[in-house]
Amino acid sequence: YVIGVDLGTSAVKVLLVNEHGELIGEASCEYPLIQEKAGYSEQKPEDWVEGTKDALSKLVQQSTIPVEQIKGISFSGQMHGLVLLDDEDQVLRNSILWNDTRTTKQCEEIYEMVGKERYIRITKNLALEGFTLPKILWVRSHEPELFNQATTFLLPKDYLRYRMTGNIHMDYSDAAGTGLLDLNENQWSSEILRALNLSSKLCPNLVHSQEFVGYLNDDFANATGLSPETKVFAGGADNACGAIGSGILEEGKTMCSIGTSGVVLSYEGDSSTTYDGKAHFFNHGKEHAYYSMGVTLSAGHSLNWFKETFAKELSFEELLDGVDRVPIGSQGLLFTPYLVGERTPHADADIRGSFIGMDSSHQLKDFTRSVLEGITFSLNETIEMFRERGKTIDTVISIGGGAKNREWLQIQADIFNAKIVRLTSEQGPGMGAALLAGYGLGWYENLTEGASKLIEVKDEIKPILDNVEKYQQLFSIYQRIYENTHSINH
Ligand code: XUL
Repeated sequence: YVIGVDLGTSAVKVLLVNEHGELIGEASCEYPLIQEKAGYSEQKPEDWVEGTKDALSKLVQQSTIPVEQIKGISFSGQMHGLVLLDDEDQVLRNSILWNDTRTTKQCEEIYEMVGKERYIRITKNLALEGFTLPKILWVRSHEPELFNQATTFLLPKDYLRYRMTGNIHMDYSDAAGTGLLDLNENQWSSEILRALNLSSKLCPNLVHSQEFVGYLNDDFANATGLSPETKVFAGGADNACGAIGSGILEEGKTMCSIGTSGVVLSYEGDSSTTYDGKAHFFNHGKEHAYYSMGVTLSAGHSLNWFKETFAKELSFEELLDGVDRVPIGSQGLLFTPYLVGERTPHADADIRGSFIGMDSSHQLKDFTRSVLEGITFSLNETIEMFRERGKTIDTVISIGGGAKNREWLQIQADIFNAKIVRLTSEQGPGMGAALLAGYGLGWYENLTEGASKLIEVKDEIKPILDNVEKYQQLFSIYQRIYENTHSINH
């Protein structure tokens, strides 16, 4: 047996999986987001540690399997969050997360000091507010005393893993999202470090996602009931793990994952492709492979915000019940999900969301459907960009919270104009993490073999031609909202 730990933004989920890829048990623990000001988003690293201990001990208590038979554990982590440690490996401040957008100035500074073209050539990405490097620069200029004490930076799941093993590492798939990795050489970019006057000592050692990095320490073993013989494997970025857990392991495969953020991700066999920063381009959790990706910052977050603000008393099931009876286009309502700015395609941290076309006849269900449609339109911008660049996308594997509701899957099929495949487990990232542990233990020859055992198709949802046509017209109106509203949002 192995455990996949999915360290997300709203909760940590842990999955117990056997050698055949069957899910034997699961548990989770939620933790808060700290939003002191608009645009700020932080978490306490200690909450991740405590939450993971709690979820793992629930998992162990629920299961009848002797803990000695749980051989390995690995991770999927929310990307980009900055954790700074001092020379005694103590956390110096709250982690600044991927959806925190306070760093526009620092992104400009990066282009000034490194040169924009050069930066994109080295990292294959834009300097975006969500990435880790601008957060490092923000701390250096706003909290210099604290920054002077920093000796290492880590990403969320790397910190958690450090607390489990006592060893410090970062894996390539997550390192790619720092904005400091040379994607051509697969090493920390000495050019960028030099240009920004940052010490290379801050950067942890890089490892591959399936690498063994230590045993579970006594603190974690005692707190959870797991055996100290449990082997710990590096793991990867949540999107890389989502790709592994949904079999995005060869050219031509595309996935849509809707959690707090939403992504459309496509496999890339080598690093020669270039999107000039228009799509994110990161290392895969599979060695020597990559993926391109577009990100909607507020996907599930938009739906969650909508429910909490306007329909707190309802469960998600109740909120979504009946959206299939609202006609396509939500009776003239359009929603843009830019609640915390947007990454793809606008790379604009200041834009904010909108409902367009409100009418006194509109009811809660119309709004709810327009939120689902708006999130999906936003993800479709990436699908269209990929198609324009020559990718064929006729099938999309849908995972995450967005794959739970049947009507939302139909909306995805109709807006993407592609067949949507739903898997028996929508927990792609956690499954990907479990698969990495299994691969690290030598259960499989390669990840593709592991994925073939683990992944099972639940159902397929085909686009309905009439709906596709209606959505294509609505999508062109949706795209005009950004052009017409961004000047009043700045
Ligand atoms: C990807 C991104 C998000 C986080 C969510 O670039 O910022 O998808 O990984 O955890």
